[in-house]
Amino acid sequence: MAPLTVPQGVTMERVLSIEIARVTERAAVAAARLRGRGAVKKSDQVAVDAMRRELGALPIDGTVVIGEGEMDEAPMLYIGEKVGIKSGLKVDIAVDPLEGTTLCAKNMPGAIATIAIASEGALLHAPDIYMDKIAVGPGYPKNVVDLDAPAEENILALAKAKGVKPEAITAMILDRPRHADIIAAVRKAGAAVSLITDGDIAGVIHTAEPHKTGIDIYLGIGGAPEGVLAAAALRCIGGQMQTRLLIDTDEKRERATKMGIKDPRKKYRIEDMVRGDCLFAATGVTDGRMLRGVRFGNGVVETETVVMRSASGTVRRIVAEHRKADKFE
Ligand code: FBP
Repeated sequence: MAPLTVPQGVTMERVLSIEIARVTERAAVAAARLRGRGAVKKSDQVAVDAMRRELGALPIDGTVVIGEGEMDEAPMLYIGEKVGIKSGLKVDIAVDPLEGTTLCAKNMPGAIATIAIASEGALLHAPDIYMDKIAVGPGYPKNVVDLDAPAEENILALAKAKGVKPEAITAMILDRPRHADIIAAVRKAGAAVSLITDGDIAGVIHTAEPHKTGIDIYLGIGGAPEGVLAAAALRCIGGQMQTRLLIDTDEKRERATKMGIKDPRKKYRIEDMVRGDCLFAATGVTDGRMLRGVRFGNGVVETETVVMRSASGTVRRIVAEHRKADKFE
């Protein structure tokens, strides 16, 4: 088939909102082949390879700003790597080809392949360090919760804004010893805690649809790259998020400075992490609350992907049947 050109009036960004699904689909299928094998590094590597190959075909002049690590520590999809056909839209790219490497290795719920794309210069260049996060869904007054307020206060404020008792609020938190105090404080305020072992991008996204997920608020410390990806999703579907990088050593300060972070104590809001319109996509690797995992069978591989576009607020769920998935490799 002859290559198609983009008709007048159709922005390339709009075209990408469908193209982007292929990128996470390929990464998810590659990782899913290794589900439950205990192969943390290998499953991440195959997802990276697959995502990188597919990114190479996109009509973009892209730069990875959130990736697998800094250039000297990651051979592929490293921060600064140029991807795409290297002409066309100039974009920043944030990737997590396998979010929840342990979930995939243990075949536990919630592993996803994910990406966000925004205009050049729009995404926060976050080093791969920890970030403190708080997020709630859409429909609340601005700053209804505050990263710097005690957890009890945030639960009470959110319950009041929602018009319910604190007992009707559920907070999602990563199950880590570092969160013992927040977990106790949330419970003390009367709210329930839903613990996850991994996967805080989906954890934040869950807050956007509390009627479906049962999650009203996300709290706690997780990866900074995951924070930027989650912010991109909320930019598309609504909600509030505040974050702060946890820079507690000179080495981290130096890395952050190198990436352009001027104020190490800055409290970021969604619009500071994603400064303009963006696209976000995720494909399920293992079954999860947000997405079904990859299904293999009968020569057909089935994937489920969610694609979000902030310019239109569109959320698409794409269930794809791949009849030639052996050609992915
Ligand atoms: P990986 O896919 O890199 O293993 O990340 C999974 C994850 O749970 C993230 O969702 C989260 O932000 C981070 O790890 C938390 O880090 P830690 O496991 O060190 O607490």
